[in-house]
Amino acid sequence: MTDYFRKKVHYNEIIATFDDILITPGYTAFQPNEVDISSKLGKFNFNIPLMSAAMDTVTEEVMAIKMALLGGLGVLHRNCSFQKQLEMCRKVKLARSFIVEEVATINVGTTVAEAKFMMETYGISGLMVTDDNDKVCGIFTKRDIPYKEEDIRLGKLKDFMTKNVISIKPGASRPQALKMLYENRIEKLPIIDNGYLKGLITKKDLKPEFPNASLDQEGRLLCALGLSAKYPTTTEAQSMLKELDKYVDIFFIDVADFYKKVDIENTKKLMNLLDSDFVLGNIGTYEAAEHLISKCDFNENFIGLKVGMGSGSICTTSIQTGVGAPTLFATAQVADAVKDYNQNIGIIADGGFKNPGDIPKALTVGADLIMSGHLFAGCTESPGYIDTIQGRKVKVYRGMGSKEARAAGFVSDRYIEGSKTLAEGVSSYIPYVGDVDGVIQSLKEGLVNGMIYSGAKTISEMKKANVGIITPFGQQETKTHDLT
Ligand code: XMP
Repeated sequence: MTDYFRKKVHYNEIIATFDDILITPGYTAFQPNEVDISSKLGKFNFNIPLMSAAMDTVTEEVMAIKMALLGGLGVLHRNCSFQKQLEMCRKVKLARSFIVEEVATINVGTTVAEAKFMMETYGISGLMVTDDNDKVCGIFTKRDIPYKEEDIRLGKLKDFMTKNVISIKPGASRPQALKMLYENRIEKLPIIDNGYLKGLITKKDLKPEFPNASLDQEGRLLCALGLSAKYPTTTEAQSMLKELDKYVDIFFIDVADFYKKVDIENTKKLMNLLDSDFVLGNIGTYEAAEHLISKCDFNENFIGLKVGMGSGSICTTSIQTGVGAPTLFATAQVADAVKDYNQNIGIIADGGFKNPGDIPKALTVGADLIMSGHLFAGCTESPGYIDTIQGRKVKVYRGMGSKEARAAGFVSDRYIEGSKTLAEGVSSYIPYVGDVDGVIQSLKEGLVNGMIYSGAKTISEMKKANVGIITPFGQQETKTHDLT
């Protein structure tokens, strides 16, 4: 007598979700201000372990810039044309560049009046002065504008500009530039090579207004983009991807289920074509992670796995197909495989986060960072306008598998090809919650306090915290209850 099928129901793994567990409190031997919530993904450091999802009602450039400034990462969605993707990536990458690449110049033969007019028209405080061979011969700033009306009207630029231009060579670091600006008490530092202007560094752009920002080695914001797992066949499409590659630090392969031969093979080709790093996903089991890490020969640009299938607040995949790997379960599965095969692969727990307390839970079962659409879709910075329904402010939040999102025509390959009628997501409204700064602040506080209660000073220590399964009665008791 076989028990093959009965065993599937009776003995197989319990698929636990965020609400099924609680972290058990631990001994705390440190001060609250010693808690460190920073995390790593490949060579990139994040001061907060939070990412906004690559969804068209969550992350375009405004959200991506803000997420990176605050220390996390916004992954730009791909449900739009190549041109729009490129534009978004350029905006993120160049948003906080400390080097101004397009510098305003003026010929030395012009007048003070012309220079003043140009500065006022373009709202800039200085101009680089060049000779007839385009070589730098001076700098003219607001401070050089003469006092007398007559000098302004008739003065020649060459008589009033600063001739001794203090400059720096290309490739100088942020600290080197900062030192020169302060030592020489100047506001602008041109980058000059053999007399030719290559860029400009200003004191204003170097100010660390966002001390937690996620930056690349040149001090620019980190940029991430969702990417189809399809390999483009035309050379034109391949060169479009190469163009994106110039601005993107991390491509996130963006498919509902990545544990597929065809996606794996195409992604290998994409990784050989592009220089940026790759996060692969989504997956939901130990076997999938084991296969990707140990059997696929991805190159060293493979830095992370995005995990969780069917937990998203707008997902209907599990309802429609009966298959799923909720985020908590998937994270624990993949974390064990990462521990067994390659601990340098980062884990991003994706979807299903409802409360700040779900974040420490995900870290406890092995995540390095978390990704959410639900927590960020209602923010000012997400795409779309703020509507009012029955007196409540709301924004639209839609699954990328919803018929509304699929209508744009760029994400059908996120789901199983050929399945045209089955919607795997919904479109709905979500309460407007104000600026993302406030949301991040309360998520951070939930995480820090969770870590303090758990006795974990860092995210690595958080992975050692214990959890217990909570009974349905326990779930009721740990929520607010018996109130009128
Ligand atoms: P939350 O819970 O933050 O989840 O809303 C966001 C994550 O859900 C995934 N996603 C989808 N999954 N159908 C799905 O089954 C969809 O239409 C859909 N859209 C997004 C995605 O991984 C995202 O980060």
